[in-house]
Amino acid sequence: MSSHHPHPLAVAVTGRGLVDPDEPVLAAHDEGFLRGRAAFETLRVYAGRPFRLAQHLARIERSSRSLGLPPPDVDELTRLATLALGRSGARDAVLRLYWTPGPAGDGRPLGLALVSEIPAWIEGARAHGQRLVGLLYPRRSTPWLLADTKSTSYAVHLAAEAEARRRGGDDAVFVDADGIVLEGPVTNIWWRYGRTLETPSLDLGILAGETRAALLELAPGLGYEVAEGSYELDRVLGADEAFTSSSVREVLPVASVDGRALGRGPAADELQAALRHAATSTL
Ligand SMILES: Cc1ncc(COP(=O)(O)O)c(C=O)c1O
Repeated sequence: MSSHHPHPLAVAVTGRGLVDPDEPVLAAHDEGFLRGRAAFETLRVYAGRPFRLAQHLARIERSSRSLGLPPPDVDELTRLATLALGRSGARDAVLRLYWTPGPAGDGRPLGLALVSEIPAWIEGARAHGQRLVGLLYPRRSTPWLLADTKSTSYAVHLAAEAEARRRGGDDAVFVDADGIVLEGPVTNIWWRYGRTLETPSLDLGILAGETRAALLELAPGLGYEVAEGSYELDRVLGADEAFTSSSVREVLPVASVDGRALGRGPAADELQAALRHAATSTL
């Protein structure tokens, strides 16, 4: 299981429109490449429609602001997304949108849309559940640490996944120096006690996941209350079930945390079904 990106089916870029996916599209001195200072979004496309596109565009605006990038041209990003989706011919796919400032001082930011297949490993992981490994990670307690910012600086997050695998797991869950559960490298985390779902609150500096937001809307309709707060890892270990959420993986059950098995419950499956329903019914 890995988070490597499948080869894109289609790519569209500012100023050029559709390009061959193997074609270079950035200058060597693009800031996004040189310093990992670009904003991006990953969405899932259901039946040809990107889920919660408006919310993802709002987040790329927030991320661009906190990274000090020029405001993204969201109409341009939408146009590029439509072009790339059309070219890919895919009905169900992963859509990535990037906003990079271009070369420093150049003032020519660039939008990019990439469409790729949904990674094949995900449905197997949904069936078996994932083994999580708790890893120490600093809490982004002040805004300058880029709390709630999706930047392309993901090397530490990828290193966390690699470390989790080295320790015999599938993915990591970040825990801060006070033992408070934060999020995964590319997911938010949830767990259940009876009819109550618990999840770390946004004031911990975690990413405000769009899937998290969707699940917050869907949970009450399924008879679950949600408590957002500050919880120690033991709270997850003692739960009836746990799961992660993200746009690409949707709702993935957690099989174990640090080698301690967790029960499988109905909430992960119910929320997964409700999420698919919301994503595929007319909005
Ligand atoms: C650090 C982090 N937390 C949470 C998420 C989940 O966010 P979303 O549901 O918007 O995909 C991601 C997504 O990549 C992430 O990188």
